[in-house]
Amino acid sequence: MCSEEVTKKREGRRGVARAKAHCKDCEACDDADCTWCCPERLAALNPLLRLILLVIGMLCVILILVFANISNNSVSSGNLHDIAAVTPREGINVSRAQEILTALCDAYRDGLVSGDSCNRLCFTRKWVVTDYYEAHKTVIVLKDGGQMTVYKSEQPFYTDFPQIDNSKSYEQYSDMVSPMSAGEGMTQRDRTSLSTLIQQPEFILFRLLPLTRVTPKLIGTCGHMYEVESLVAFRMKGYYMNLKGKILVHLMGTLKLLYEFLNEPLQWCAVKFENLGLSADYPKRFVLMDGDMVYTQSKLNSMLKGKPCVKDEDCRIGDCEARCTADLTCSGRSNENLEVFCDKLVNKLFGNNWSRNNKYLLACHDTGSNITKRLNDLRLTWSWNLADV
Ligand SMILES: *[C@@H]1O[C@H](CO)[C@@H](O)[C@H](O)[C@H]1NC(C)=O
Ligand SMILES: *[C@@H]1O[C@H](CO)[C@@H](O)[C@H](O)[C@H]1NC(C)=O
Ligand SMILES: *[C@@H]1O[C@H](CO)[C@@H](O)[C@H](O)[C@H]1NC(C)=O
Repeated sequence: MCSEEVTKKREGRRGVARAKAHCKDCEACDDADCTWCCPERLAALNPLLRLILLVIGMLCVILILVFANISNNSVSSGNLHDIAAVTPREGINVSRAQEILTALCDAYRDGLVSGDSCNRLCFTRKWVVTDYYEAHKTVIVLKDGGQMTVYKSEQPFYTDFPQIDNSKSYEQYSDMVSPMSAGEGMTQRDRTSLSTLIQQPEFILFRLLPLTRVTPKLIGTCGHMYEVESLVAFRMKGYYMNLKGKILVHLMGTLKLLYEFLNEPLQWCAVKFENLGLSADYPKRFVLMDGDMVYTQSKLNSMLKGKPCVKDEDCRIGDCEARCTADLTCSGRSNENLEVFCDKLVNKLFGNNWSRNNKYLLACHDTGSNITKRLNDLRLTWSWNLADV
């Protein structure tokens, strides 16, 4: 664990001072005294000192265990970002992820695809895959130096996408991926890459709607894959209950931004804790990890209105509900983001434990007044308390 420090320790007093300076590398402890916790360092010292240090070391371990136990019960003063730490996932198929990246970089090398992230992604090809996911989307998380980078695509290989054979549409869409075309004529490899990207709704959302401030930042593209800001997945756990207040503020920040998007509220139809991520840049909001079910209001209503139906359930898109009208077509959306947030997130946290003094909780529970009124009251509260989200 601390093998680098062992040699320094042997060098004597000055070595000790230096070893202490390197303590941050010692994963077992996190304060300046962590020298005493490392068995490798202990072995380098004389026997009497060793015995004393062994005792101190054991105390140290006991303290850590006790502290770990306590911190499970009293994280209330903690920071959400610290607690939802990144843990590399076990049992992922690393060779599958490498196969996909190798195919992409081979295509880049052979001049078949392009993108501003390709050079960095393909430079050494020594990928440290920390997570990999392949279902309705392929997601590869890499550790690149000290940073995490996330590559996403709906399909693993660019050849899985049908090629669009319409040169006009490239011009139409070229503004969308400006780093790639930047005024110059587009090459065949740009076209191939672009045609795969524009077939992916999430890419278009991330690219076109950064103004929402609730989608992850798009960093670049390579072929059919797009690189997004790395987020810490927020998975609701029992012991977070002590952080309820903080989580509520994050939820309200996100909800506010959905409602404030230009003149058109964004409609989020896949509301769940697992879809929320923490971004290092934003202290008062969650970011939506998965953008497949986020629509502008007019887009959602165009998908709903006029759709044939026989019952209300036929008019459902995820959490977004609409009514089946008398002429057997769907209405526009009939429920609100607010209602879904209350049902699926806020009430899960607070249950019946709410007071009228908390305006956010009141917005979820004040069934005496209609939803328009509740939303207007909530907007007023936001403008006071969440002006800087
Ligand atoms: C992992 O991926 C490789 C490459 O696609 C594949 O050959 C192998 O069967 C996969 N292993 C598992 C356990 O799925
Ligand atoms: C309700 O609040 C009380 C006291 O604040 C707490 O002990 C209890 O666990 C809470 N119940 C739920 C469901 O959160
Ligand atoms: C809700 O209440 C407001 C007045 O506070 C009223 O103007 C509006 O029509 C009501 N909306 C519904 C859907 O009942």
